[in-house]
Parts: sequence; C-alpha cells; structure tokens
Amino acid sequence: MQRHLISAADLTRDDAVLILDTAEEMARVADRPIKKLPTLRGRTVVNLFFEDSTRTRISFEAAEKRLSADVINFTAKGSSVSKGESLKDTAQTLEAMGVDAVVIRHGASGAPYRLATSGWIDAHVINAGDGTHQHPTQALLDAFTMRRRLVGRDAGIGQDLSGRRITIVGDVLHSRVARSNVDLLHTLGAEVTLVAPPTLLPVGIDTWPCEVSYDLDSTLTKSDAVMMLRVQRERMNAAFFPTEREYSRRYGLDGERMARMPEHAIVMHPGPMVRGMEITAEVADSDRCTVIEQVTNGVSIRMAVLYLLLGGNEPALAHPSPTTALATRRFAPTAELRTTEEK
Ligand code: CP
Repeated sequence: MQRHLISAADLTRDDAVLILDTAEEMARVADRPIKKLPTLRGRTVVNLFFEDSTRTRISFEAAEKRLSADVINFTAKGSSVSKGESLKDTAQTLEAMGVDAVVIRHGASGAPYRLATSGWIDAHVINAGDGTHQHPTQALLDAFTMRRRLVGRDAGIGQDLSGRRITIVGDVLHSRVARSNVDLLHTLGAEVTLVAPPTLLPVGIDTWPCEVSYDLDSTLTKSDAVMMLRVQRERMNAAFFPTEREYSRRYGLDGERMARMPEHAIVMHPGPMVRGMEITAEVADSDRCTVIEQVTNGVSIRMAVLYLLLGGNEPALAHPSPTTALATRRFAPTAELRTTEEK
C-alpha cells in the first residue's frame, strides 16, 4: 500500500519532519521571480474531487503546476458520476489517459484507501479528505504553520513540535481535520487537547492519543495554538446542541477569550470559517489568526508531498513504500530545486 498518502497515522516522525523541511525549501521557491520547477515534467496528476473544496483543490492544482506536472481536474458535478458511474470505472477511465497520481477527495471514508489498495489503478493516491476519516495534507500544513510560528522558520528545520500544547475545539465528531491533526501532532511530540460538547465527540475518543475537556476557558490559558473547527452541518442528521447561540457561548472563540490566551499563542482554522459561530470576525481578522497563512503554506506542503512521492530522485526501487521513500530519500535542493529558467 505504501506508495500513497492516505492517513496522517501512516507517517513516522522522520517522514513528517522530512515533509515539513522539504516544504520549507518549496516555500523558498515561491519567493523567487520564477516560481516553477521542472521536477514533475512529463508526469500527469488528476485531481478527482467528489466533494466540494476551495482551498485543497486549488492549492493542489497550484502545487502541481509549480512542479510542472500536467494537471487534469475532475469534479463529480457535471461528470458521468451523475449517470451512475462508479469510483472504480471513473478512476480506470482517467488512468487510461495516462495518469501518474490521483489526488482524491470523497464523501465516503475509506474511498482513497480503496483506490490505493484495490488494484484498480497503478497511480499513486493522495488523500485530499475522505468523509470524516482523514485529511493528511491539512494536518501537515497545520503542523508546518505551527512549527514556523512556535519554533521558527529556520530554527524549525529538522525539528518536531515536542512539548507544544495544541487545543482543537469544536465538531470533532465530523472532523477529518481533527483526526489527522491528533495523529500527526502526537507523532510530532505535541500535547493535544480536544475541547467539544460530549455530543460532538466520537465513540472511542478515550483511545485517541490526546486529552479531552469540555471547558474551553480553562484550556485556552495553557495553549500554544488553538485550532477552531467548523460545525459541519452538512454531515449532521440530528440536533447535536441546543442552539447556535448556546454553542458559540460555550465553544466559540471571541476577542475576550482570545485575550486570555498566552501572548505568543496563535489561533488556527482549516477553513471554511463560519464567522459568528465558532469564531468571531474580530478573531478571524486578528494578527493572531493564521487562517490565510495556512492556505499559503498548503501549497508548499502539497508541493513537498508530490515531490517526495512522485518526483525528485528516481527511486531505487520501482515502487518504494512511501514511508521508506520519505524517510530515506535524500533531499538535494541544489540539484532538484533549480527553477525552469535555471535548468
Ligand atoms: N480546509 C479545507 O479542506 O478546505 P476546503 O474544503 O475548501 O478544501
């Protein structure tokens, strides 16, 4: 299976740090006049989106284009999926056009895993969010943002997030972002606390490698980063809290609460935000909120993942496992990160 990025839980500490370090190199490319690298020239990547997306879809496309890949964008809306075509037939149709990697977002948890392990296609599979399961590149871009802000851009190279206290607040039950973040942050040595009403915590939460609290105010004061989650109405089929007003009062972040956070602490949100629900406009627009920075960092992280899985040095083995490839592949910026113009 391990030619793919399906879950943040599949990454070792060394894998994750290598991706973060590679993303720093990719971010430096973005500062150059010519932002394009020839690394994936001749490779074709399809973005297969069965669920709506703004950030993830566009930043994968930007990352692929910056690495000079040929890009095919597929959205279920307007495709033959509406005529009943299956995931298998859709994927095989696309692969018949010569696809090297599939970036997939799907409403069904496990769809990327199925695509990667069923033998339907040979392409690398990257999970861009599946149901309530995983969103590994979101967790990586979040960790990248935390490392830059809490450790430092240069000081962070080679470092993890040991000892940093991260609080994740809100609709954990429906959040693939929360799952991926808990997995990755634990691997990177951070201490994670989830804060949510009991109705928005999944069964089995006691087995997750984190603390759980129902009291946001007492947790805020000892957090280095506070990540607010959107309440995912589209996945709810029942009433999980009395009113929106009551939810915001207990679990929303406003200016008064933010003022109680340590001075260095940051506010994060994966987006899209529901202003006035989990976060007020005052907080969302404050200097402490990294939501836009997270989007920028998403392009660097996705370039790093594509580079490490698909490009760069040709692997010694035809199909190395991603953990092996990620952990052992040497990153060689002088050879690999010359821009198209410099080549
Ligand atoms: N954070 C995130 O996945 O946003 P999109 O749904 O817009 O891709």
